[in-house]
Amino acid sequence: MKKPDERETPLSSIPPYIHASRPPGLHASTPPYLHTSTHLSPAPYLKIREVKPETNFSRLSAAEKNEFEKLKTPKRRDEWLASRLAAKELISEALGGTPDGIEVFSDADRKPLARAGGKEFYISLSHRDALCACAINRALTPLIGVDVEKIEKRSEAWKKDFFTAGEYGACAGSEEKFTETWTLKEAALKMLGLGLSVDAREAEIAGERVKFAGRALERYEKLGSPAIRWKSVRKENYIISVLWA
Ligand SMILES: CC(C)(COP(=O)(O)OP(=O)(O)OC[C@H]1O[C@@H](n2cnc3c(N)ncnc32)[C@H](O)[C@@H]1OP(=O)(O)O)[C@@H](O)C(=O)NCCC(=O)NCCS
Repeated sequence: MKKPDERETPLSSIPPYIHASRPPGLHASTPPYLHTSTHLSPAPYLKIREVKPETNFSRLSAAEKNEFEKLKTPKRRDEWLASRLAAKELISEALGGTPDGIEVFSDADRKPLARAGGKEFYISLSHRDALCACAINRALTPLIGVDVEKIEKRSEAWKKDFFTAGEYGACAGSEEKFTETWTLKEAALKMLGLGLSVDAREAEIAGERVKFAGRALERYEKLGSPAIRWKSVRKENYIISVLWA
């Protein structure tokens, strides 16, 4: 039985190209969309980039250089820098202009933003070992979350701590499915600006739906309970999931 503070939100795993010609704002209440909202947001801008030691810091602003200097380990520095370069390249490809002069910073919850061409807008970043990603909602709204994760064997204790019983059952026997589900949960919580400041089970991936609970549900409702869509891709032994509304 559903808990009283839970609400189901439809997810769509339909590839974005199916919707690409659908103008934003067009009512989509009939199958296969199964959404209750009045419009579907088009697939976001997404860039996946290799993480490798970088020597060119010329694209960093003074504030970014200052933040970079505070990072302790080479791994953290490489991941941080690669994800900022991915953001700058993506913004310049998507919105025009050169990557220079674009600045990436964070709000009080550490949710990243970019300043470019006189605009400030939320972006989403993720980095894991050899890969990083940046995603941007095409309408430049905060409704965007991306997560990169490596497919690897994880302990039963970790799975039991972070997955609901329903998710655990749906993923049982497949490390790839656990990883994909984990990236979707993290992307959903990043979209809400919460990250793992809440229990990961507050975003439950249930088939084609995401169910929010607790603080995640409160935040989602404050955002107007928009219809959520997602896409996951596999690149070598990594899963990259992007979730948007
Ligand atoms: C957001 C979070 C879930 C990402 O963790 P992760 O999977 O290890 O790392 P990822 O590379 O996928 O994502 C990191 C990026 O998420 C973004 N991010 C951080 N907090 C965020 C938030 N509240 N909302 C949206 N995005 C956020 C940042 O851009 C960060 O990159 P940066 O540190 O280089 O700026 C995690 O950093 C977090 O919530 N931390 C706060 C709570 C915490 O530390 N809990 C520990 C319990 S395990």
